[in-house]
Amino acid sequence: MKQVTEAAYAKLNLTLDVRGLRSDGYHEMDMVMQSVSLCDTVTLTRRDTPGIVLQGNAKLPKDERNLAYAAALRFFEYLGDTQAGLHIALEKRIPVCAGTAGGSSDAAAVLRGLHRLYHAPFPLEVLHDIGARVGSDVPYCVYGKTARAQGRGEILSPLPSLPPCFLVLCKPAFSISTPALFHQIDVCNTLRRPATDAMCAALVAGDLSAVADALGNVFEAVLTPSQQKTIASIRATLCQEGALGACMSGTGPTVFGLFDAESAATRAAVRLRQNYPNVFLTHPV
Ligand code: C5P
Repeated sequence: MKQVTEAAYAKLNLTLDVRGLRSDGYHEMDMVMQSVSLCDTVTLTRRDTPGIVLQGNAKLPKDERNLAYAAALRFFEYLGDTQAGLHIALEKRIPVCAGTAGGSSDAAAVLRGLHRLYHAPFPLEVLHDIGARVGSDVPYCVYGKTARAQGRGEILSPLPSLPPCFLVLCKPAFSISTPALFHQIDVCNTLRRPATDAMCAALVAGDLSAVADALGNVFEAVLTPSQQKTIASIRATLCQEGALGACMSGTGPTVFGLFDAESAATRAAVRLRQNYPNVFLTHPV
């Protein structure tokens, strides 16, 4: 086998809570994650010449600053293979810096793909630990689906999948600095915490309305007033078109709405596309 292709699915936070600052500078997280059908495609090809070459359709760094590249480096380090030659082709569809784990998902897809390309040289679970060295969301992205993520994001508990539904994603134009947003959390004492246990119970019960009621992201409260206005306007459009609930994902700025009917989700997507270039109609995977 010389080549493998992996889909790298986007992730949404059904809930996101920050429980406090840790002594290592990271934050203690409590999140419910869901992967959705919007995906990048990662194709890995073995090369005879040593070194990693990354090419893609997006303006992204082509070196270790790109999580896909960093993941391949960490994989070969783990194998102790200093002569490995690899070509990574990255076909991006997930918006960059959107709060939907595009980079982490690409990194996880590289790890899964290399594991196949190198004929499973170690147990699959090791990818989780290699991924944790690449980024906090990478361990979740190795498995995807529906899971609660705690600790730095690496303590994973699988959950039942969302009942069949449609998720409309809308990414407004502004970008948010992740470290700056975490700092805002550290200095804010009026946070509205999401109901993480209620979300888990709703998933176990397979109750889509209860899932919609429990959606929540602690970061929404520490955005600037102008950012909050944009988020509120997207949420209002989603809800006017019949979303059962809507919420920001990750550190934003992507907002998503949860729909039980495809027709309503399509209408919402059509309306949002009048004002925003990055709107996607997806479903859980
Ligand atoms: O691990 P990752 O590189 O994705 O983290 C990016 C930044 O997000 C970190 O430098 C840190 O500022 C913040 N972060 C955090 N606590 C986490 C995850 C990320 O403070 N659990």
